[in-house]
Parts: sequence; structure tokens; C-alpha cells
Amino acid sequence: MAIKHFLQFKDLSRAELEYVFERTRWIKDKFKRYETHHPLFDRTLVMIFEKASTRTRLSFEAGMQQLGGAAIYLNTRDSQLGRGEPVEDAAQVISRMSDLVMIRTFEQDIIERFAANSRVPVINGLTNEYHPCQILADIYTFIEHRGPIQGRTVAWIGDSNNVCNTWLQAAEVLDFNVHVSTPPGYEVEPERAGLYGTDHFEQFADPMDAARGADIVTTDVWTSMGFEAENEERRRDFADWQVDADMLKVAAKDALFMHCLPAHRGEEVTTGVIDGAHSVVWDEAENRLHTQKALMEFLLLGRVGN
Ligand code: CP
Ligand code: NVA
Repeated sequence: MAIKHFLQFKDLSRAELEYVFERTRWIKDKFKRYETHHPLFDRTLVMIFEKASTRTRLSFEAGMQQLGGAAIYLNTRDSQLGRGEPVEDAAQVISRMSDLVMIRTFEQDIIERFAANSRVPVINGLTNEYHPCQILADIYTFIEHRGPIQGRTVAWIGDSNNVCNTWLQAAEVLDFNVHVSTPPGYEVEPERAGLYGTDHFEQFADPMDAARGADIVTTDVWTSMGFEAENEERRRDFADWQVDADMLKVAAKDALFMHCLPAHRGEEVTTGVIDGAHSVVWDEAENRLHTQKALMEFLLLGRVGN
């Protein structure tokens, strides 16, 4: 069987994603009933972190244990990865000692080169360009609360970063719309986002126009990891791109507010919104665990019966 990686959202087809979402529900329900499910007994996940993390590390490590396997944490500081060992060599070695690899790093090119030299599936745990595991959890969260996402509208307010790019890719695969509003100079770059068409996305100068009628209103930090040097400039440039109560008022009545977390309350979102009735941010965080368990099972075992 050919190795299947999850490096970008579009690496999974619509049919495969639908299977993963269905499987997530089954795995989550079973977990909530305290029933064991150990399809990955004796398998090892290696997690490589070149950037900080709370949710991604926790959800992959706990998830692998819950599936009967083990997870090993490596970071740039404590391994040879930070001392110039070529990524291609590291991939050869790491993939001979493990069954699955998750990487959080800087440029997408690094993870693509790793995967090209890996004997086992590789999962993107966030790069400068994409965060596919996050959007897997976010879409599952929408499905749980509101049903299928097809034909719905997501309003992205703020930076056209890795999370935004991934929403845009997901819209093409799963046939929904993304309305994006960024400050001037921070617009979406379709090529960097890996888009093949533009008919699922529209840009708006005014964030209120992007939010109007949307089924999901979502945002992220103004400064992503790796871009800290631009922090001050970005605080000024993004000041009018805050999700607040007025913005939720123009969205659909039953709109959900999403944020991948960690959030900077008082910057990209008000405390009132993140703690308010529309917010599903804790469900999103929890669903990282359940969706990634379904993803790991799928990448290693393919479609399985209950
Ligand atoms: N949302 C997310 O990926 O969180 P962490 O950076 O804590 O992993
Ligand atoms: N865009 C953020 C997401 C953090 C989970 C970053 O890359 O830092």
C-alpha cells in the first residue's frame, strides 16, 4: 500500500475526509463510554517540535496512548535536528524506528522533504503555511453542532496565515465558502495557500462585510510563531480586525465563533466573544484529540470496520 501523508488539507479527498469524520464520531463515543480501543497496539508515533505547543502535543501524545501505542517527543533543542543534520537523513533514521511521524516546523518545504524520505506516514502539526489538523477538528466541531459544512460560509478575520490558508484549501475540497478580511498588505496569496481555483473564496476590505451572514466567524493571533519581529507593527496594522460583539451581530443568528487557540484576548477577539454564547473554542480544542485519533488510525490501517 502506498504511504499516505497528511501534509496539506487537500492530501485527503472528500470521501476520505467524510470517512475520517464518521470514524471520529465512533472513536469519540467509545472513548466517552470508557471503552478501550487499541488498534495501534505496539505502534510508535514520533513527534518533532521546532515550535512551541500545548494542544498539538497533548492531543497527539494522549491520542496515541489511547489507541494502544506510544508517542516519543523530540525537539530541535535536545536532538541532532537543531545541529544541522540534514532533514533527509533525519527522515531516513526516524522512519526506520517508528510507525508514524508528526512534525511542527517552519517552512512547508521542510516537512515535504522529510516526507519524501520517510518510510512511514507524516502528519503536519503546523508549518508557516498550513495547519491541517486544526481545520480537521474545526470542521468536525461544526458538523457536531450544525451538520454538514457544504454550502456554508466561514468568515476569516485577520491575518492570512497558516490557519487561514488551510480553511481556504478545505473550502475547495468540501465545497463551502470563505470570506476573508485582512488589513491591506496582509492579503491571501493563493499560490502559497495551495489553491487551485478562487470560486470558494472572496476578499473584503471591511471585516464587518466579511462577517455578514456567516455561519462561522473565526480569527487567530495577529502574530504567528516565527514572525515575532513584526509584533509591534502588526499590533498597529490589525487594530481594526478584532472580532467583537458587533461583528457577531451581523453574522448568522446561530453563527459559531472559532479560534484555534492560544488566543490573545483584547487583541484579535474580545473576552465577551470568546467566553460568549456563540463560542465553541473548547470543543475545537477537545476535538483535536478525537479527529487526530481517527486520522492516525486511517493513515496506518486504512478504512476499518467497527
Ligand atoms: N491550536 C494549536 O495548534 O495549539 P498549540 O499551539 O497549543 O498546539
Ligand atoms: N497561526 C498560529 C497558530 C498557532 C496554533 C501560529 O502559527 O503561531
